[in-house]
Amino acid sequence: MGFLSKLFGTKQEEEETMTKLNIGIILGSTREGRVSPQVGAWVKEVADKRGDANYTVIDIADYKLPLLGEAGADASGAAAWSEIIAAQDGFIFIVQEYNHSITGSLKNALDYLRDEWNNKAAGIVSYGSVGGARAAEHLRGILGELLVADVRVHPALSLFNDFENGSDFKPQAVQEDSVNQMLDQLIPWSKALFTIR
Ligand SMILES: Cc1cc2nc3c(=O)[nH]c(=O)nc-3n(C[C@H](O)[C@H](O)[C@H](O)COP(=O)(O)O)c2cc1C
Repeated sequence: MGFLSKLFGTKQEEEETMTKLNIGIILGSTREGRVSPQVGAWVKEVADKRGDANYTVIDIADYKLPLLGEAGADASGAAAWSEIIAAQDGFIFIVQEYNHSITGSLKNALDYLRDEWNNKAAGIVSYGSVGGARAAEHLRGILGELLVADVRVHPALSLFNDFENGSDFKPQAVQEDSVNQMLDQLIPWSKALFTIR
């Protein structure tokens, strides 16, 4: 039994894992007390049931990225940030609405890289008082510049109907269908774009 077989189980499981797309679920918020880890874990749970890709939660906070170009700042996490994004074939952005847009942390993390994002697909799962819709639309404009093809279906979670007290994530049943419909678009687009990289 090879090293990878020990990690993944049978040879067949090993081959499936190696040939599947890698889809990164990116948590857009980094503040203390944020709800994005709950949303990201739920999206991963829904996605993993499909077995059609390797889904990984990627937490921007783990990379401790200072503001891009900040003088004297420790940017030692930038290399690992580049490496993890380069390893993905597609993305699911977990987007929260801050002042009608995306968070500063997500914008900063996007600005750090260029080639690593290019020619990949993305889906957006957002939340806010109106489903994070305004932030999601801002993100689409940014993704266009980064050559990321964002799919149409957009699960939009309400702080009032999908959370209790705005903090305990309890998604309505219909939201799982919405995530699956988004993934039905994201997976083929991620496969298609793989062919031109
Ligand atoms: C600085 C800030 C600005 C916000 N602005 C908006 C807003 O414009 N629209 C909205 O629907 N919610 C807004 N909210 C509420 C957030 O969407 C809500 O707190 C959400 O839980 C934030 O995501 P997080 O917990 O992952 O950080 C704002 C929250 C913060 C912290």
